[in-house]
Amino acid sequence: MEEILAQIARHSEEMRTLETPDAESLEAFRIRFLGPKGLVKALMGEMKNVSADRRKEFGLAMNAFKTQAEQRYETLREALSVGADTSGPAIDNTLPGDPLPTGSRHPITLMRNRIVSIFRRLGFAVAEGPEIEDDWHNFTALNLDEDHPARDMQDTFYLSKGPDRLLRTHTSNVQIREMQKGSLPIRIVCPGRVYRNETVSARSHCFFHQVEGLYIDEGVSFADLKQTLYFFVKEMFGEDVKIRFRPSFFPFTEPSAEMDISCLLCHGDGCAVCKRTGWLEILGCGMVHPNVLTNCGIDPDKYNGFAFGMGIERPAMLKYGITDIRLFSENDVRFLQQFTAAL
Ligand code: DAH
Repeated sequence: MEEILAQIARHSEEMRTLETPDAESLEAFRIRFLGPKGLVKALMGEMKNVSADRRKEFGLAMNAFKTQAEQRYETLREALSVGADTSGPAIDNTLPGDPLPTGSRHPITLMRNRIVSIFRRLGFAVAEGPEIEDDWHNFTALNLDEDHPARDMQDTFYLSKGPDRLLRTHTSNVQIREMQKGSLPIRIVCPGRVYRNETVSARSHCFFHQVEGLYIDEGVSFADLKQTLYFFVKEMFGEDVKIRFRPSFFPFTEPSAEMDISCLLCHGDGCAVCKRTGWLEILGCGMVHPNVLTNCGIDPDKYNGFAFGMGIERPAMLKYGITDIRLFSENDVRFLQQFTAAL
């Protein structure tokens, strides 16, 4: 027992005087005193050789030795890391961190939000519907019977027949679905993605985005339609922009019109963008055809209304000076990063 206590005292003294000037000697200290084969473990193992009446005394001495080893190790370790901070290359906490890239809204989203927010101010709510649609909601209910030649205007991706499934060619399917719900009056805008079987080029794509609008109530007139769209154009493109309506044909509206605005680039003088006409076509519109109302269970003798539909890509291209529609869907960060302005 005396021999063991003497050993503890010797190693305790050794520990007190030992210096660890570098990481290597510090690790050697840890292994010698605290490691699995170190002195603390080894001396602890002597317990079995100590007579029962002195075990308490031995235990106290060993505990003190162990605590001393742990504390000394911590002290040496701290001294080393503080020293290293000032001596060698280290982390400089005052440097700015690595910046996280900030995302920005897609230009189509910016333009859609802008269009929608103008109509919201006129009391229009947002309605959405499925992109995979059946023939009835996309065509038949809109007064486009199966053999109607106007179906040729929208070359369609058919997914299956019986049950028939297709990719919607316009968001007018949402108008139908809202009218079927039967709660009147209706005042909605329907933003969304639509699909047409078109050759992809700088000017057209097989999918694009639309915002359509629908207002159904008693005694709605063409003047209401014009006033709504005048307000929209002035808010969207500015007070100076001129507007004209041209008679047109859509099976789901009667009468139907297309609306042009004076060219934003040449202000009506004629340029390549407006094909020298001075005008840009931006939307189709009209008074909802009585057949469409009937198809949706609405009495056309009591209610009527107007509808309109516009693409989002075209005004976005005009606003941002984008010359190729394919850029919108190529996910090129260099393109997308340019649209940081909040709209
Ligand atoms: N659905 C038409 C299209 O995609 C646009 C349109 C025209 C929608 C007139 C309407 C409308 O609601 O009344 O070409």
